[in-house]
Amino acid sequence: MKEKILNKERKNRNPHFVNGKTTVLPTNLPTENQVGKITQRIDTEDNTTKNPHTKRVYIESYGCAMNFSDSEIVASVLSKKGYTTTTKLDDADLILLNTCSIREKAEQTIRKRLEKFNKIKKTNKFLKIGILGCMAERLKNKLIEEEKIVDLVVGPDAYKDLPNLIDEIEKGQRAINVLLSKDETYSDITPYRLNSNGINAFISITRGCDNMCTFCVVPFTRGRERSRDPQSILEELNDLSKKGYKEVTLLGQNVDSYLWYGGGLKKDFHKASEIKKSTAINFSNLLEKCAIKQPKIRIRFSTSNPQDMSLDVIRIMAKYENICNHIHLPVQSGSNKILNEMNRQHSREEYLELINKIKDIIPDCSISQDIIVGFPGETEEDHKQTLDLMETVKYSFGYMYKYSERPGTVAQRKLLDDVDEPTKKRRLQEIVELQQNHSLIRTKEFLNKVVEVLIEKTSKKSKLYWSGKNNENTVAVFPKENYNVGDFVSVKITDCTSATLIGRAIGYSKNN
Ligand code: 5AD
Ligand code: SF4
Repeated sequence: MKEKILNKERKNRNPHFVNGKTTVLPTNLPTENQVGKITQRIDTEDNTTKNPHTKRVYIESYGCAMNFSDSEIVASVLSKKGYTTTTKLDDADLILLNTCSIREKAEQTIRKRLEKFNKIKKTNKFLKIGILGCMAERLKNKLIEEEKIVDLVVGPDAYKDLPNLIDEIEKGQRAINVLLSKDETYSDITPYRLNSNGINAFISITRGCDNMCTFCVVPFTRGRERSRDPQSILEELNDLSKKGYKEVTLLGQNVDSYLWYGGGLKKDFHKASEIKKSTAINFSNLLEKCAIKQPKIRIRFSTSNPQDMSLDVIRIMAKYENICNHIHLPVQSGSNKILNEMNRQHSREEYLELINKIKDIIPDCSISQDIIVGFPGETEEDHKQTLDLMETVKYSFGYMYKYSERPGTVAQRKLLDDVDEPTKKRRLQEIVELQQNHSLIRTKEFLNKVVEVLIEKTSKKSKLYWSGKNNENTVAVFPKENYNVGDFVSVKITDCTSATLIGRAIGYSKNN
């Protein structure tokens, strides 16, 4: 049995009594946290250069790393249908928006994009527009039947149906598939790596989330939690290694909850046969398998939920050098009252105990957070407790948000969004400032030390500098000299800001 750090009973786990579902995020990769736009191309050289009449798709992704990763599944499915991509809107036969519903602002941004695309449609009557991802799931028929602003609506579990749906829209019909699945994990699809630097890649290991945090729309949009066959995960890892990738992030809404027992929903594990139960693979087992399989590849994972993180996972992290010492561990609030209202399944004390255990086993482990301010009923005292918890932990970095009421969530149905906007704004500013102070404390800890940096790209600030990340997930920049993208380099840190380490390479690190 997995040793739990937080062994609080999970009573009332699914207050919504809904066919649960989810999403979650990592850190300095595109995440829900960093709602932003990434334009992607499916570049099949052959298609682009040899066949000018191939249909072209333009894909824009918003929101979490899971969406980004899903767009790579979509790209793979579409390339088999003969689609190539374009980054030019005017060249597109099909525009796909992979959407995010996590906060109202994300949806507003996407709606503005839809308006723009519909203008283009007026000048190109053959152009088709499709919505993928969480907004597709949340708004379903509304976009296609009521508002008539898209031709295609496809939910996160229906991407394999895209070829059929596209056939429909090519005949001039509108098409929709928003069915959520019990077992779809896309384990049989090799993602088409988009916008890749050939160094970092995501491997999706779970889909959906059963946590049902009361503020979160994701359980409604991404289906119930299910895990992917470990064999297919290891194959993907091997394939990435062969292609020269150096770092992978195991991705899921709640990776620590990973559980493979031959397929099926996590919630149905108790119904599995004894043999299936006893041979089940949990997250620490999976992590160890990945670490052993590719000892030269750096392994990260995201996101962790405090109540599901086991001591075994932390021990495995400590045991294998190629598993990075960073845990993204959202806390959302420092107040027990608010944590309870959020249905977070852990108390402030349990969270801090977990942090202590992590630091006992891996003293240098960096921890990052997600925090929401202005949740219904949050008083000044609750807010102070969040600031106080931040003081105790001194996170390396974090993602902070004003509460945004989402239709259909328990918080929207049962609680009054009663913290006014100026208060939300001020509280957000206070935690952001505090986080900046803590980030600087954390980056300063690296001064005069030698860290291993995996070079990812040219620094945005100077063409003469490389940019990469150290083991703890902090960005480091240093003069290029003769090093190259994909090299693991030992870098002596001489200076820093709150977000970046600045240094000088002293040689290749032993991981090369
Ligand atoms: N309002 C504000 N932030 C939210 N998040 C999730 N739902 C909401 C919401 N309704 C934040 C949480 C989560 C992160 C991915 O987004 O902090 O961890
Ligand atoms: Fe699941 Fe809660 Fe994360 Fe939403 S915030 S995806 S419900 S763990």
